Amino acid sequence: MPSTRTAIRGDLVYFTGNPFISPATDCLTYERDGCIIVEDGLIQAVGPANALLEDGITVTHHRDKLILPGFIDTHTHYVQLEIMASFGKQLIDWLNQYTFPAEQSFDNAAHCDQIAAAFCDQLLRHGTTSASVFCSSHAYSAEALFKQASKRNMRMIAGQVLMDRNAPDALLVPSGQAHDESQKLIQDWHGKNRNLYAITPRFAPTSTPDLLEMAGDLWREHNTCHVQSHISENVAEVEWVRSLFPDYLDYLDVYEKFGLIGQRANFAHGIHLTGREIARLCETETAISHCPTSNLFLGSGIFDFSKMMAGEEMVRIGIGTDIGGGTSLSILETLAEAYKVSLLSNRVLSAAEAFYAATLGSAQALSIDDKVGTLQPGLEADLIVLDPKATPLLTMRSAQAQSIHDLLFALMIMGDDRAVSHTYVAGDLAHART
Ligand code: GUN
Ligand code: ZN
Repeated sequence: MPSTRTAIRGDLVYFTGNPFISPATDCLTYERDGCIIVEDGLIQAVGPANALLEDGITVTHHRDKLILPGFIDTHTHYVQLEIMASFGKQLIDWLNQYTFPAEQSFDNAAHCDQIAAAFCDQLLRHGTTSASVFCSSHAYSAEALFKQASKRNMRMIAGQVLMDRNAPDALLVPSGQAHDESQKLIQDWHGKNRNLYAITPRFAPTSTPDLLEMAGDLWREHNTCHVQSHISENVAEVEWVRSLFPDYLDYLDVYEKFGLIGQRANFAHGIHLTGREIARLCETETAISHCPTSNLFLGSGIFDFSKMMAGEEMVRIGIGTDIGGGTSLSILETLAEAYKVSLLSNRVLSAAEAFYAATLGSAQALSIDDKVGTLQPGLEADLIVLDPKATPLLTMRSAQAQSIHDLLFALMIMGDDRAVSHTYVAGDLAHART
């Protein structure tokens, strides 16, 4: 097949460093009238349009719009799409009343296919090109998501949820069967197209030690896979873990003793972690997904960015929507809530920090920054186009912006899926707002 070489032109915004640690001006690149040359799905060159545009190349010009790397949602549940906005409960009651019943309906293949397709389309509409996703306990639920992600050529991390206690019988899978099903999914899907497999014990309370041991063994056998779970989201949950696992130092220690922490392991929430746990997350390069809309919606607590430091180091933090505890698929809306929550703990989250967290920071948290997360030759051309004039109010506000930082701030506080004008996946147009 002849190679395809195209150019995408507009105002480029991307990160080359971590603004939580270094000055934002050293980390964020803003290239007015820049251009990205894409060849065979990869970024081939990035720079000023007048220097890079060559005769004969097909150019798509997004005039006066911002081109960024696609957003990366580091924690979400596609099987909870239909139970977003379920009323009135904190975590454990919410799981029992809404989540577990909803997940039982994924015993039906047609339902899996339908919701997986809707979910992938919604991600693209919101500018999310990669995600780390929980499926249900049914093996086919993971297969369905991988099929839909493959159809759209998305970079997707996902796994079958593992549970063998403290949930309805219909959702429990004994560890032997869970091992065989997860192993088959790994063989069939890990590294196929742009899919990656995540071994997915739901969280310690729904896992026997036997199940966690199986998950740790599976990871050792398939060590290029990912691991995802939940940690320290809710005070009652942390107490429950203490009573179920009394011989462990703390919640993280449970996962650690079963070999489930380290690079490519990603735990959602981490609101109520101790200093010891935070230091250990840093040492082991284990990631936390910050899910602010969910943390507010379920009344789980205030995530404190400044607590995530151990000495000079910072825990790798990604941004998660945590659908359906979360209330929006929009990473822009999620960043707005992250900003407000952060102020409640007296830590101002800058626009540079927020957009870094949602792109390169999330890619680093998931250890996929060799593939996606910024605009750099060799990376996959997952791109989004943000329109600072998407709505009449944004138009008014954007006209006042004196800097790229202020413009990004307006977009993250006022923007949603309407601000995402185009989404490109591996260089191909995957969504255009009409
Ligand atoms: N902890 C264990 N399972 C879940 C879940 O589905 N959603 C959230 N928010 N927390 C969890
Ligand atoms: Zn979750």
